[in-house]
Amino acid sequence: PAAVGYEAEYAAIGQGSVESDHTGFTGTGFVNYDNVAGSYVEFTVTAEEQATLPLAFRFANGTTADRPMDITVNGVLVADNLSFPGNGSWTGWQTRTVDAALQQGGNTVRATAASANGGPNLDSLSV
Ligand code: GCU
Ligand code: CA
Repeated sequence: PAAVGYEAEYAAIGQGSVESDHTGFTGTGFVNYDNVAGSYVEFTVTAEEQATLPLAFRFANGTTADRPMDITVNGVLVADNLSFPGNGSWTGWQTRTVDAALQQGGNTVRATAASANGGPNLDSLSV
């Protein structure tokens, strides 16, 4: 099936805020993670059937330091310290993809900042 996009600004946010001050986002904005470990964005992703699918996170990291995140699906860790590298530009959006097994129906996909720098700015998740 074609990929479906989920905007971060409509997801559940733990320690972060919806902002729109850096151009190039899709939808109406992006999530600025608070710069602390544990800040997160949680999407509810619907799968038509049980399948392993690529999860594509669209993000910006305007620093030169990595902003690793832990990715869980339905509470299970699927990517530990997944790299979200900096490229020095908050408008230079990048994509990071990881494969994950989804169950049929609703799935919670959570991206949690794993370092004290917090997560990157997160625009969307495409599945
Ligand atoms: C800047 C930038 C934010 C970003 C933040 C950060 O303040 O404008 O969009 O989230 O840096 O370092 O996390
Ligand atoms: Ca931030």
